[in-house]
Amino acid sequence: MKNDGSATAGDTDATAPAASSAPSESSSRAAGKELVRFDNVTKRFGDVTVLDQLDFCVDTGKHVTLIGPSGSGKTTILRLLMTLLTPEEGTITVDGQYLTHEERNGKLVKPSDKHVREVRKKIGMVFQHFNLFPNMRVLRNVMEAPVHVLGLSKDEAEQRAKELIELVGLSEHLDKYPSQLSGGQQQRVAIARALAMRPQVLLLDEVTSALDPELVAGVLDVLRDIALSTDITMLVVTHEMSFARDISDSVLMFDKGKIVESGSPDKIFSEPEHDRTKEFLATVL
Ligand SMILES: Nc1ncnc2c1ncn2[C@@H]1O[C@H](COP(=O)(O)OP(=O)(O)O)[C@@H](O)[C@H]1O
Ligand SMILES: [Mg+2]
Repeated sequence: MKNDGSATAGDTDATAPAASSAPSESSSRAAGKELVRFDNVTKRFGDVTVLDQLDFCVDTGKHVTLIGPSGSGKTTILRLLMTLLTPEEGTITVDGQYLTHEERNGKLVKPSDKHVREVRKKIGMVFQHFNLFPNMRVLRNVMEAPVHVLGLSKDEAEQRAKELIELVGLSEHLDKYPSQLSGGQQQRVAIARALAMRPQVLLLDEVTSALDPELVAGVLDVLRDIALSTDITMLVVTHEMSFARDISDSVLMFDKGKIVESGSPDKIFSEPEHDRTKEFLATVL
């Protein structure tokens, strides 16, 4: 497998993975350093293995796109990173810290809630269905978590929120409720809300697939802008292949919980090697 930062297989025993394989705890946003790392991650639902001993990493500042047929495990990867799910085997690290474990006395153990909250702060996500707070105006939707989770003052949070709402082109709609906005505008609020937490990595899960076709371009333009003008790391699931081609440093093609092929967007989209990739691209291009 070709991928940034060459991941290696981890220990297969999730209950006691080798702590000696722990990446450095020193945290840095320097470009080129690996920010997200999956080591031998297996996720099952009952008897069904949805992710199968998955290894990959994403370096700081890179934009990595996950493609593949429905059911291949893409959303599961993002949900693991959001700690909405836990893996049965393997380890996930973010910025050199374990997400799904905690190191104590040289051993990897179940993490405390505090540890999980700390590491989780580095990650932001935008969902397919926006999930805005329906009872809050746009400005408050974007201010809420920075005030209540990060402890920012109201003034500071408001200033940050206004800058981000401007970035997504909605300065005229600060006082509207989500229901007064189009789906595309709501999704842009959701993007501003995720960025307001200043995550190191932004997860985007098919963020335009619930939108009316005429609203898709506006959201993709905002994301393209963010990808090209900021140093945020992105992990993107999308069926918008020209967008993926524009913003991605690398593309991972998934099938049945495994990476079947990976590489630069040029390689994956213009010269795919695997039949599975060719078949998949024929259905979406
Ligand atoms: N909570 C769950 N319980 C049982 N099966 C699930 C659950 N979530 C996802 N799956 C299954 O895991 C597989 C991968 O799903 P998912 O990660 O959503 O795929 P993708 O995002 O690539 O379409 C699918 O077969 C799906 O049905
Ligand atoms: Mg999905």
